[in-house]
Amino acid sequence: MTLMTEFLVKRDEFRECRVAESDPPEPGPGQALLRVDTFGMTSNNVTYAVFGEAMSYWDFFPAEDGWGTLPTWGFAEVEGSEAEGVEAGTRLYGYLPSSSHLIVTPAGADETGFVDGSPHKAALPSAYHRYMASAADPFYRAETEAVQMLLRPLFFTSFLIDDQLDDDGLATRGPVIVSSASSKTSIAAAFLLAQREGVELVGLTSGRSVEFVEGLGVYDRTVSYDAVDSLEHGPATYVDVSGDGEVGQAVHTHFGDDLVHSMAVGATHWEEMGAGAGELPGPAPAFFFAPDRVSKRSKDWGRAALETRVADAWHPFSEWIDGWLETIDGEGFDAVQGAWLDVLEGRVEPKQAHVLSL
Ligand SMILES: NC(=O)c1ccc[n+]([C@@H]2O[C@H](COP(=O)([O-])OP(=O)(O)OC[C@H]3O[C@@H](n4cnc5c(N)ncnc54)[C@H](OP(=O)(O)O)[C@@H]3O)[C@@H](O)[C@H]2O)c1
Repeated sequence: MTLMTEFLVKRDEFRECRVAESDPPEPGPGQALLRVDTFGMTSNNVTYAVFGEAMSYWDFFPAEDGWGTLPTWGFAEVEGSEAEGVEAGTRLYGYLPSSSHLIVTPAGADETGFVDGSPHKAALPSAYHRYMASAADPFYRAETEAVQMLLRPLFFTSFLIDDQLDDDGLATRGPVIVSSASSKTSIAAAFLLAQREGVELVGLTSGRSVEFVEGLGVYDRTVSYDAVDSLEHGPATYVDVSGDGEVGQAVHTHFGDDLVHSMAVGATHWEEMGAGAGELPGPAPAFFFAPDRVSKRSKDWGRAALETRVADAWHPFSEWIDGWLETIDGEGFDAVQGAWLDVLEGRVEPKQAHVLSL
């Protein structure tokens, strides 16, 4: 009999991981059992852990006391269903645990998929509740599943960053400076921004990734973290994907009140968040939370129109990145643990990304 396997991370010491095994749960009335097939792992998953308590990411897939199941994005198949309109064998894309199985309570099921109406998720952001049936999904192409798992949620964010900068008139008020320029989220945002007239993009990155970032051809200029002073003074917008306190301090100090906007997007440098403490000159960083922007644009355009716009922008990007991204496949607890520790320690080369399965 197949066991249910869960990859667990200690909530107060992310370097400690363990496996939990049990009999797979049986779906009750109105429920379905998903078998998690594959999921991606990048710095984004580390950020889910870093904000596990503060932003309730640990609450999506509850685990035993002190331990957390990592939220991931990936593909699953319906293994058994007691839910109306949900057929066994359906392939789905959505927000999944770092486990082999998941019980969901489908609501509003139709040919496009369903929303998980499990009571414990009711208070959590709705952007994470939808499971999309691959057969009717405008993003889906069988040959690009790996790229979808890894990049689709990040690309959605990048689309919304590009859209907000344009909407707020920030894209052309001086250079847009993007930190962790080698991250997938930054690369996708830069890919989109670079298509706009009059946008000047500066990629800020670590010394080891300068060459990689330059080679992408999407940033106008690449600058290493220790050379912020080399940037010209004047109006600029900071898109902070690194969350590094010291880098933020350097950018804010260099531009001062000329800084038009400071957008706090990510925390790839998760252990440096508290660095550079001190008064921050210029505008206070504004937290960018993709699900809030999804709600706004769903109201403005309608959810279906938003999905269509993102899907239209996605295909050229996925074709471009599929041309150079190297995926590292791994299966089983040891592979998942190895990938998690590599991502946590920043040991994954920017041209690579992990696709995993338990
Ligand atoms: N606010 C939102 O709604 C939202 C939505 C989606 C994603 N995000 C955030 O965007 C960030 C980027 O995620 P991603 O998945 O695109 O990242 P990724 O592709 O895995 O990024 C890897 C890059 O991050 C830096 N890095 C990673 N680990 C590091 C470490 N331990 N020490 C130093 N540098 C490290 C390196 O870039 P450099 O050398 O260039 O710094 C590395 O190339 C995450 O924090 C994610 O949560 C936010």
